[in-house]
Amino acid sequence: MRLLFLGDVVGRPGRAVVARLLPLLREEWRLDCVVVNGENAAGGFGITEAICDDLLSAGADCVTLGNHAFDQREALVFIERQPRLVRPANYPPGTPGRGATLVETRAGARVLVLNLMGRIFMDALDDPFAVADRELAACPLGGGADAVVVDLHAEATSEKQALAYHLDGRASLVVGTHTHVPTADQRILSGGTAYMSDVGMCGDYDSVLGMDKEEPIRRFLQKTPGSRMEPAGGEGTLSGLAVETDDRTGLAVRVAPVRIGPNLDETRPAFWGG
Ligand SMILES: [Fe+2]
Ligand SMILES: [Fe+2]
Repeated sequence: MRLLFLGDVVGRPGRAVVARLLPLLREEWRLDCVVVNGENAAGGFGITEAICDDLLSAGADCVTLGNHAFDQREALVFIERQPRLVRPANYPPGTPGRGATLVETRAGARVLVLNLMGRIFMDALDDPFAVADRELAACPLGGGADAVVVDLHAEATSEKQALAYHLDGRASLVVGTHTHVPTADQRILSGGTAYMSDVGMCGDYDSVLGMDKEEPIRRFLQKTPGSRMEPAGGEGTLSGLAVETDDRTGLAVRVAPVRIGPNLDETRPAFWGG
């Protein structure tokens, strides 16, 4: 199976590059399943129903979230009627929406998408390790799912690595999101789980984490309350990870980073024809 994961879509530049490139890549690379993190899609903060629909119609099968999940309050309501939108599974019981969903590909394969949030330097949520164990016991790779994609939305690389090794052999892919900068450590772990500490963002990299530079710099210089952060307005770069899985085991056999756009060196999966 051919999977593509795209990192945090930030504002209009992120949405524009996904809308422009994803339909073409979906065809060209014959993708079976695409998962996109949309936690910053609406002006950098959260997601609206219209934007979620746009990401799905551009070719995403599922949209994941993170600490900004409910910045747009309408998400508290529409997440209940959108089964292809997931928020971190380790939010407290009673939080609207779901933390995992089963996506069916056009070929009829079932992909479990699980969203988790780290706890180091982030909100104190339930234990993501225990929640991952519970979700994967309920829908294991090779049982209820033909592939398992885990989006671990976290700040600390240690926590991301630890969770990836904890899930090695039980997921097709464990991918980090949230830091908005891609790491260079994509690989397949010994148990067959593809891993990358952070896939980076889909957004304007001439920025501070996708936001216009002026206000973040001012906040470091002056430490006083200021104006609202706005997404940077330049051209967005698509950033993510391409993974091919074995149809029999659901484990990863090939992995490569994807970066298309200005500011970062461009890279595409050579094994799908580049
Ligand atoms: Fe983000
Ligand atoms: Fe985040």
